Parts: sequence; C-alpha cells; structure tokens
Amino acid sequence: MTSIQDRDNSVMLGNGIKPKSEPLPIDLPDSAAQIWLYSGIFWMSVTMLIGVVEAIKLFYPEFLQGVPALAYGRLRPVHINVGLFGFMSMGYLGATFYMVPRLTQTPLFSERLGSLTAWFWNFNLLGGCMGILMGFSKGKEYTEIPFPFDMMIGLLVIAIAGNLFSTITLRQERRVYVSLWYILLAIIPFPIYYTLGNASKFSGIEDAIINWFYSHNLFGIWLTTLGLATLYYMVPKQVNKPLYSHIVSFVGFWTLAAFYPWNGGHHVIWGPVPMWVMTASVTASIAMFIPTCATMINFGGTAWGTWEIMKRDVSYRFSLLAYVCYVGASLWGTVLAVMSLNAMLHFTNMTIAHVHLGFLGFGVPGLIAFTYFYLERSLKLKYSQNLAEWHFWLTMLGIIGYVVSMGISGWIEGAAWEAGGSPQSTMVDRYPYHVARAVSGLIVLAGQFLFVWNVYKTVNYPVSLPTDSLDSLQKTGVTS
Ligand code: HEM
Ligand code: HEM
Repeated sequence: MTSIQDRDNSVMLGNGIKPKSEPLPIDLPDSAAQIWLYSGIFWMSVTMLIGVVEAIKLFYPEFLQGVPALAYGRLRPVHINVGLFGFMSMGYLGATFYMVPRLTQTPLFSERLGSLTAWFWNFNLLGGCMGILMGFSKGKEYTEIPFPFDMMIGLLVIAIAGNLFSTITLRQERRVYVSLWYILLAIIPFPIYYTLGNASKFSGIEDAIINWFYSHNLFGIWLTTLGLATLYYMVPKQVNKPLYSHIVSFVGFWTLAAFYPWNGGHHVIWGPVPMWVMTASVTASIAMFIPTCATMINFGGTAWGTWEIMKRDVSYRFSLLAYVCYVGASLWGTVLAVMSLNAMLHFTNMTIAHVHLGFLGFGVPGLIAFTYFYLERSLKLKYSQNLAEWHFWLTMLGIIGYVVSMGISGWIEGAAWEAGGSPQSTMVDRYPYHVARAVSGLIVLAGQFLFVWNVYKTVNYPVSLPTDSLDSLQKTGVTS
C-alpha cells in the first residue's frame, strides 16, 4: 500500500508533475505532525522533571528552597499545565495530524497552518508557564495559565480543530474509521468546553460546577479520546489484523460520548453542590463501566495470541501497557466515584495514584508507542532496540512504583480520616511511600532520557531498515 506521504512526495518531487514552486519546510507532508510530536516529547520530559522536583519537595521541603519561582505552589500548576497542554495535547495532536490524512486518504487541509499553530502553541505555553512561575496564576485548578496566554490557547484550539475538520469533510475515503470517530469527538466540542472553563464569569458554586465540567472534559473528551484514537489506529497495524469487533467499538464509542461529559460533578462529591448534580454525575461515572469494558474486550480480543509480536516489537508492548493502564485507571475512577468510598478517599493520594495511572500509565506509553511506530513504519528508520528495551522496562517499573506507593499512601490517609484522625497524623507513616514515589519518578525520567537520545540519534543519524524487514512491513500493508 502506498502511504499518503509517499504519494505526496511523488507529487511534490517529480513523477512528471512539477511543483509550482519550492515548498517551504512547513508545507511538506507530515511537517505539522512532526513539530507537534517532537514538541510533545520535549514537554513530556519537562513534565517528568518538574514532577520529580515536586515529589522530592513533598518529603524534603528544604530542596531548592528560597527561590520564589521554584516554590511548590508555583511548580505544581506548571507541572500540570505542561503535562496537559504541552505533553498530552501536543504529542497526541502530532499523532492526530499524522492519522487524519491517512484515514481520510486526503492531504491535510493546510500543512502550513498545522505547523504554524504548533510553533505558536509552544511559544504561548512557554509564556504562560513563565507567567505562573513569576506568580501570575489565575489561581483556579486547570485554568492557571494567565491572560492573554489562556485566550491564545482558545484561538489556537479553534484553528487546529478547523484544519482537521476541513480535512475530514474533504475526505476521499468515505468510510469513517473508529479512530476518526474519536478524533471528531475531541475536536468538535473542545473549543466550547475550553472557552466555558477559561472565559466564563461565574462565581461560587456555579463556578465550581462549570470548572469541573471543563476540567473533566479536558482529561476525558480532549486528551483521552485522542489517546484512544491513536491506539485504535496503531494496534491493528502492529498485530496485522483487524479490530476484534466493530460492533463493540460502536458500543464503546457511543456510550463514552454519552456518559463522559456528565462526569465532571464526581470531582465535587460531598461538596456544597446540588444533590442532583452529584447523583447525575455519579450515575454517569458508574455507567462508564460500559465503554471501559468495551475497550477492554476490543483491545484484549485484538491482542489475543500475539505473544510473539509482543516479545519482538517494543512499540506494540508500549501500546499494550497503555491499554492496560487505561482500563485500570478507568475502573479505578469508577470505584472512586462511589459516594461512600469517595468520602474516605477524596483529598488523599488515592486520587494522585488514579491520575498518574491515567496520564503516566496510559498517556506516556501511548505516545512512546506512537513515536517508535512512526520512526519505524513511516520514516522507515532503525532505532536502537537495546535502548528501547531499557526504556520499556524502566518506564514500566517507574509506573508501577508510582501507582503502588501512592495507592498505599492514599489508603493510609483514608483509613485515618475514617478513624476520625487527621491526614497530618499519618505524615510519618506515609514518608517512605513519598520517597518511593520520587525514586519511581527518577526511574521513569532515566528511561525518558534514553528515549529522547534514541529518537535524536535515529532522526539525525538515520540508518534505514534492511529491505527484507521493509518488505515484510509492506506485505502486511502496515507502512502507512
Ligand atoms: C516522573 C513522573 C511524575 C512525577 C514524579 C509526578 C509527580 C507529581 C506530584 C508530586 C504531584 C503533586 C501531588 C500532590 O499535590 O499531592 C503531581 C500531580 C499531578 N501530575 Fe504528576 N508526576 C509525574 C508525571 C506526570 C505526567 C506525565 C502527567 C501528565 C499529564 C502528570 C499529571 C499530573 C496532574 C494532572 C497532577 C494533579 C493531580 C491532582 O490535582 O489531583 N504527572 N505529579
Ligand atoms: C471511567 C473513567 C473514569 C472515571 C469514572 C474517573 C473518575 C474520577 C473520580 C471520581 C475522580 C475524583 C476523585 C476525587 O477527587 O475524589 C477523578 C479524578 C481525576 N481523574 Fe479520573 N476517572 C476516569 C478516568 C480517568 C482517566 C483515563 C484519566 C486520565 C487520562 C483521569 C484523570 C483524572 C484526573 C486528572 C483527576 C484529578 C482531578 C483533580 O482532583 O485535580 N481519569 N476521576
């Protein structure tokens, strides 16, 4: 199968058709995808680095003390915003800019717009984070980025969604593949959610409800759906067989689209919000069991009997790690939404464990899987297998260490609340788990350095894959 990239290159570079003028680098096919993807990898490393500093500060507060910009209260929002708007948004938009032309068999509506929005996004995020470090935060979780950088993100989101949506409407492939459903679910409503969360002027309880409506959809409808779209695209190609069941995908998609947007209220369970908001949200959170099971069955069924591929293909192994953590985080989230359990575990590290099973366990490996996939199957370059193996085991070890240590720490805190004690009374008991979390973070970070080095060497000192392995990729039709 000829990839879109091959087709576009042949149109651009010759085959009897002369290009009108020399294309700029930002006009070349996949240039937007590359800028978004590599920027995502850069911000992923920054997120982890700041995460480790924060983690150390939580058991050794004197660490980097005395510099206002490095105070915990400033680093924490930077960690979160860089994680959500830098690493997750940019990385998965990279995957999306790569997937959309291939799924639609249509060149991107505007490569130049895609590339320019990526550069603006980078500079704007940098400005926003510098603002927070200088003390200019808006002070509300997930909307900390100060004016005017927050508004600029909104405008960029509209431009990105417009570019992708126009490509989809002009598509030559009439079928709408599962990944495309998820991409549409992310790009159509998110500009509205973002504007509501960042520009609306509610106060008090309304403000809390709107803020969680926006924040939850930031994780659920914007980031998770782009992550799932990437897995739905990659996994069948990695195992060279179709998805286990189209019907199950259908059920999974529509139940997720119906229930996820209602979940925001589960962040304020037992808060001063109307009972019907809490009940509706908890019901929708429990109903999320259906799409989670659908995803579990579909990827589980597709992956069944692929042991040999798993042993050989690091990229596929990262996809499976992302899949397992996604299902785990979602089931964990459903349990956390049970009102009696939430009373015990809210305000504890159990939430932190859930969050990192989602972003560190699903988001990180999913993007890594895509990067290796892209290097090998699209650029047809050989990366260091040895480094990638080390990278995989370090990442997995770090994720397990993080989630288990914070899970135990959260349980200790929750049990103290239940027994009528205070969280402070558990600080000494929780100390070793905080140290374990920082060590786990360092292990993940070490793996990340190997990854960045591997990608850098692969792209800048390219070694093409041997022809026989290219042939086998081509025969299976998985090079696009
Ligand atoms: C080396 C890996 C990482 C370490 C050591 C780390 C560490 C931390 C720490 C110490 C906190 C603050 C916890 C608290 O206030 O009690 C935190 C919060 C958070 N982190 Fe990470 N983190 C890592 C990776 C990531 C990644 C990759 C993301 C991706 C987006 C992420 C997203 C978040 C979010 C959203 C929160 C806020 C959670 C909440 O308020 O409930 N982290 N992290
Ligand atoms: C079925 C799916 C899910 C459900 C039902 C769910 C449920 C929950 C609940 C109930 C909380 C609040 C816990 C508390 O504060 O007491 C929560 C927090 C959170 N969840 Fe999930 N979750 C799901 C999936 C995910 C996934 C896949 C991610 C990330 C990729 C994620 C990211 C977060 C974040 C960042 C928070 C912390 C917000 C904060 O307090 O700052 N969730 N989730």
